[in-house]
Amino acid sequence: MTDTTIAIIGGTGLTSLNGLEITRREVMHTPFGEPSGPLTFGRLSGHDVVFLARHGYRHTIPPHCVNYRANLWALHHAGVERVIAVAAVGGITPEMRPCRIVFPDQIVDYTWSRSHTFFEEDLTHVTHIDFTEPYCQALREVFIASARDIGLDAVEQATYAATQGPRLESRAEINRLERDGCDLVGMTGMPETALARELGLCYATCAVVANWAAGRGEGEITMEEVGENVTKAMTDVRALLETVIPRL
Ligand code: HPA
Repeated sequence: MTDTTIAIIGGTGLTSLNGLEITRREVMHTPFGEPSGPLTFGRLSGHDVVFLARHGYRHTIPPHCVNYRANLWALHHAGVERVIAVAAVGGITPEMRPCRIVFPDQIVDYTWSRSHTFFEEDLTHVTHIDFTEPYCQALREVFIASARDIGLDAVEQATYAATQGPRLESRAEINRLERDGCDLVGMTGMPETALARELGLCYATCAVVANWAAGRGEGEITMEEVGENVTKAMTDVRALLETVIPRL
C-alpha cells in the first residue's frame, strides 16, 4: 500500500489539521457534483495523507447539505483506500461524557432524503453491500491499540445514531435512540459510512463527544459548549492521529 491511500475527513472542530505540511490542494469535480472543498494533500507524521473538511474549510455546509457522494467519490478517485472520519457527537449513555473519544462499531440510520447510494443507474453489478459490520475492523483495531498506547481513555465500542438535523433532538427522541441501543448521536455518520463501503474503502470513525445529548445533561445544549468541548478534545484527536497514521 502506498502512503497516499490515507484520508482524514475532519468534522466540526477539525476544519484544518495542525501539523499537516500541505503540499498541494486539488479542486475535484465528480459525477455527483462538488465535494465540500478542494482535497488537501500533505504530510502528517512523515506520511502522505489527504485531508477534507466535511463541512467546508469555513464550516459553512450543514450536515444535511454535505455532498457525501462527491466527497467519497473524490477521495476514492484520488487513490485513497483508508478513511479516518472524525465526527462530533452527542453522548447518550453514561460512558459517553463530553470530550471523550469513542470508536463506534455499529450505526443506526435515522436520516432521510439524502443521496445515500452510488447504485442508481448501472445495476449490472451487486448493489446490496454487506453492512453487518459497518466500520473497518482493521482500522478500528489500530485506533484502539494507539489510544491505549498513548494512555487515552477512549471508548472502544459504541452504537452511533445518525440523525437528520440540522436541529438537535428532543428528549423523547434521545430516549427512543437509547431504547434502540444507541450510545451516541451525530448527523453525519450516514450516508458517509455506507457510501465508503459501496466504494470498498476501509472506513472508521473517531467520534468526539461534544455535549450530553438532549435531556442527558443540565438544561439546553449550547453551541458554545459544543465548540469548547470539541476544541479541548482536539488535542487528543491530533495525538491519536499522529500515532495511528504511521501504523497504517
Ligand atoms: N445531536 C446530534 N448531533 C450532534 C450532537 C447532538 O447532540 N452533538 C454533536 N453533534
